[in-house]
Amino acid sequence: MKITIGNDHASFELKLFIKAELGKMGFEVRDLGSDSEKSVDYPDFAVPVCREVLAKKADYGILLCGTGLGMSITANKFKGIRAALCNDLFLAELARRHNNANVLVMGGRVLGKSLALEILKRFFTTGFEGGRHQERLDKIIKIEEGN
Ligand code: RB5
Repeated sequence: MKITIGNDHASFELKLFIKAELGKMGFEVRDLGSDSEKSVDYPDFAVPVCREVLAKKADYGILLCGTGLGMSITANKFKGIRAALCNDLFLAELARRHNNANVLVMGGRVLGKSLALEILKRFFTTGFEGGRHQERLDKIIKIEEGN
């Protein structure tokens, strides 16, 4: 599975940890995030990750910032991106089962590393249920097309 990851300064340390863990789990990881704790603007790092997911160069994206809020807001501006801010395990599971999320967002100033790892594992081991949930996603597609 191919994952493209993006982060800002507030989540640089979490990014390093997640990248290493994804590698151990056998994922192919492309890092388009910031490479230090020097202050940067999170939208600049959300955009290339979303483009890779939409171009199918990545199966999923991971976006990290301080809270996860800025990355979520930015990513969900893209037609076809379903970015889910998952700061707990229940959200990680439902983001996949019900929302078929294609971008996992987490907050580096919110989560400890061990919980972030559990969230990551739950997200990538949970499938989409389809059915009525697909019908709801179809409505979102119509909204995107109308805007
Ligand atoms: C950066 O200070 C912070 O605002 C950013 O990482 C993020 O939390 C924004 O939503």
